[in-house]
Amino acid sequence: MKRCDHSPVWAQLQAHFAASGRGFDLREAFAADAGRFEALSFEAPELFADLSKNRVDGATLALLLQLARDCGLEARRDELLAGAPVNHTEGRAVLHTALRAPAGAASPFNAEVQASLDAMLAFAQSVRRGERGEITDVVHIGIGGSDLGPAMVVQALEADRLPGLRLHFVSNVDGHDLAPVLRQLDARHTLFVIASKTFTTQETLANAQAAKAWFLAAGGTDVARHFVATSSNTAAAAAFGIDTAFGFWDWVGGRYSLWSVIGLPIAIAVGAENFRALLAGAHAMDQHFASTPLERNLPVLLGLLDLWYRNFHGFTSRSVAPYHQGLRRLPAYLQQLEMESNGKGVDLEGQALPYGTSPVVWGEAGTNGQHAYFQMLHQGTDVVPVEFIAVKHPRHGASGELAERLADQHRKLLANCLAQSQALMQGKTAAEALTEKAPTASATLDREVLARHRSFPGNRPSTTLVLEALTPRSLGALIALYEHRVFVSGALWGINSFDQWGVELGKALCNQLLPRFESRDAMGLDGSTAGLLARLSA
Ligand code: F6P
Repeated sequence: MKRCDHSPVWAQLQAHFAASGRGFDLREAFAADAGRFEALSFEAPELFADLSKNRVDGATLALLLQLARDCGLEARRDELLAGAPVNHTEGRAVLHTALRAPAGAASPFNAEVQASLDAMLAFAQSVRRGERGEITDVVHIGIGGSDLGPAMVVQALEADRLPGLRLHFVSNVDGHDLAPVLRQLDARHTLFVIASKTFTTQETLANAQAAKAWFLAAGGTDVARHFVATSSNTAAAAAFGIDTAFGFWDWVGGRYSLWSVIGLPIAIAVGAENFRALLAGAHAMDQHFASTPLERNLPVLLGLLDLWYRNFHGFTSRSVAPYHQGLRRLPAYLQQLEMESNGKGVDLEGQALPYGTSPVVWGEAGTNGQHAYFQMLHQGTDVVPVEFIAVKHPRHGASGELAERLADQHRKLLANCLAQSQALMQGKTAAEALTEKAPTASATLDREVLARHRSFPGNRPSTTLVLEALTPRSLGALIALYEHRVFVSGALWGINSFDQWGVELGKALCNQLLPRFESRDAMGLDGSTAGLLARLSA
């Protein structure tokens, strides 16, 4: 696949940006085109997307799509889906899409995938049925992709939770994560799931060892019955004392693994039918990505928008604002998905890239963010495209007067969501601010000065994604949308989105530093690290 800047369309985009992209004004665009919303809103499985509040027009999109075609994006996508070794630095295929293909589909490894899924779902059900003894608490120990996906999904699907079992997620090597969880538990009624693709991750193994020691000290006897593993290194799990280990394949990347046996806590929490619905939603998005013409292909359009903002407008971050409390961990999940995938500085041949890659992805559940950092989004010096996620129908599970009150609150939530994207786009001129009375404003400050403080630049772009309801199926589609969008921008940037060498150096240095906390030997360390070591180990 051709790198984006090696295509002749790149220069055309640069010229287009200089001519009309840089000065693009959203307010003028809406005023000039009554059909803008219809032209720039799109349907995808389980989702509606309004892209009209973005700094693009038909000409921009046409050029971006031409760039994608000229670079060979479609062929690259087909290679990915067919199982070509697109993760070339690790010599691996990348086939998380195969994990959500239905039984009997002409998809790579389908028979093995279905057998693994059936076994995992059956185990989840056996736990719920008490076939492993009376289990009241499940503690999932993992980190990164072996934590963020399952934890985010279990939280998001709160309305689909089966009653009776408590789930806990422990990831941090900081004992302040594990200790308060253990304090709530009875060893006889606890199941630990140790989730680690490699089964070598320091944080996870330390927590697993601590949990095992606690279990034995707290009267537990049967480690093999109370500890299970989800890992592609089942031999290491066995050495730990685990004989129930659900394996998976090296072609499942950590940050794409919630669809595999790593999703065990999801299956325990919401049951087999809901887990299958999650997979089905993701599969529907896979099909959309695989076969919808690029002009209406939502992951492609979002990926192109990301490139437009990053490399032409120079925006360095994107904020995600889910207007659903269940999705409050989505930004953290997306940080790994996007920044571990596309936070790279060299192309496939190892050549340094002359342009920016992964934006900083950050956010918080709306409306909480509004009362914290939205100030910066509206009036700060940096433009940050915002992605709003609105859910039409809530699933509060309430009745009577409470249901009515919460329905009203939901309208407030949605009104807030729309108001924010409207405010970001519209802004407010100093002249407009001058005509207003602000009750809390200083009575002595010059009115013109005050108006400048109270004006908003506007023209700040946003995307709004709309789900009918947050269900296993729609959540599956939403996550898959993000996965493919990250692939699209990464492919155009010419990078390997599927390795993560950048996490290695810190791990190696940590292993070298660890014994120095005992020996206090600072020999060969830089002055800062030596000084900090002395302070922390004294
Ligand atoms: O350190 C980064 C990383 O390798 C992630 O890519 C991965 O999701 C995480 O660590 C956990 O790895 P494992 O599942 O092997 O414990």
